Amino acid sequence: MAVILNQERVGASSMAEQALRNIGPIVLLGPPGAGKGTQSKRISEHYRIPQISTGDLLREHVKQGTPLGMEAQAIMARGELVPDNLVCDIVAWRLREPDAQRGFILDGFPRTQKQAAWLDAFLKYEFFDNGKWQSRLPIVIRIEVDYNKLLLRITGRRTCPTCGRIYNVHSRPPLVDEICDVDGTKLVMRDDDREEVIRERLDAYERQTKPVAEYYERLGRLATIDGDQPVDDVTARILKEIDGNAATASEGS
Ligand code: AP5
Repeated sequence: MAVILNQERVGASSMAEQALRNIGPIVLLGPPGAGKGTQSKRISEHYRIPQISTGDLLREHVKQGTPLGMEAQAIMARGELVPDNLVCDIVAWRLREPDAQRGFILDGFPRTQKQAAWLDAFLKYEFFDNGKWQSRLPIVIRIEVDYNKLLLRITGRRTCPTCGRIYNVHSRPPLVDEICDVDGTKLVMRDDDREEVIRERLDAYERQTKPVAEYYERLGRLATIDGDQPVDDVTARILKEIDGNAATASEGS
């Protein structure tokens, strides 16, 4: 698999070591279509820590028809952000699961300044103050891609509803048209991948999420990566960033 081959390139330690060490929190920021989901899945496989996508969690609530899902559905269909308190509640619940105790990748969270402040407080209280992890602030990676390319990527995206694998009819097509390579399921388009909704989602990113990236930049925690590169190259850059950060943290501890 490409991610495993990339280990050589980034000089990462063995899979056994990866499976044991604490990775800590990783935040992936970027506009819709930047490749957060694609890259999160690869990072998750590499370090064996969970991908926690607030978009996926919210879509699951919508599918199950929970009260939260019913409240979120119309908001997501318009391309707006779901209220902070609802999103923070589902993130808190998910971060307390046993599989998140060595580290996790937050895909699409935090997306507002309130969510970022909430996350800082949550990490301090739940992971750092009680000594579960050495104080390790989140590694925040922003993936940047040109606006017009984002539109093309999102309109071409297809997802497998069974395994979650992400394809693109333009750049990463499945072997058989509209069918998942892994499990043969018919691929689907997301409800919010219509052009008028995409524009609203991109606007929401500019208005509400860019300040979050600036917040992390001021704290010296932000690494920006050019997402307009082949998927393997973007993965290699991200892994290098994470491994570099982990090495600095262990030198400092
Ligand atoms: P969410 O599900 O998080 O969607 P998003 O942020 O809009 O991001 P996308 O999933 O569209 O894109 P992506 O960056 O993951 O790209 P992907 O890897 O798929 O959020 C949906 C909604 O939920 C929000 O609008 C909001 O309503 C709500 N929500 C979620 N989180 C929230 C929060 N924290 N607070 C409030 N509300 C929240 O890639 C896209 C395409 O590009 C794919 O086809 C892929 O194959 C292709 N691609 C990827 N990388 C490359 C590459 N390097 N080269 C070429 N093609 C590539």
